[in-house]
Amino acid sequence: MPKVQVLHGPNLNLLGTREPGVYGTKTLAEIDALIRVEAGRLGLEVAIAQSNSEAEMIGIIQKADFDLLIINPAAFTHTSVAIRDAIAAVGKPAIEVHLSNIHNREDFRRHSYIAPVATGQISGLGYQGYLLALRAAKGILES
Ligand code: DQA
Repeated sequence: MPKVQVLHGPNLNLLGTREPGVYGTKTLAEIDALIRVEAGRLGLEVAIAQSNSEAEMIGIIQKADFDLLIINPAAFTHTSVAIRDAIAAVGKPAIEVHLSNIHNREDFRRHSYIAPVATGQISGLGYQGYLLALRAAKGILES
């Protein structure tokens, strides 16, 4: 069974109470439960991790114990050459997901260091972005 790693970045552990008008009212545990259901429906094995640490996220990416990465790098999207380089180094397909639309917010959010090394980006569709990413992953891994 193809294996997808979902990796949530910093502050996403606060979902549910963190700026709900921007990021929605679901908690990360609720989103993760929906991810597991959708992955099961699609016949994908899924591992899910959240970290507030750039180093820990890089460690998970470097381990490369997955066929495809779905990553919401959160604020590291806009700062981390190191996460971008880790994704490039492992050479596995990666889908970048953002709950909010990073293109219609503050200027500093418009730039993603991750986008150039990602297969694609889903931004602004809330938690459904993760479910759409899983569907895309299935297609990518079967092609
Ligand atoms: C985010 C968008 C980022 O700009 C922000 O720093 C986050 C979450 C999103 O999912 O919309 O923490 O990645």
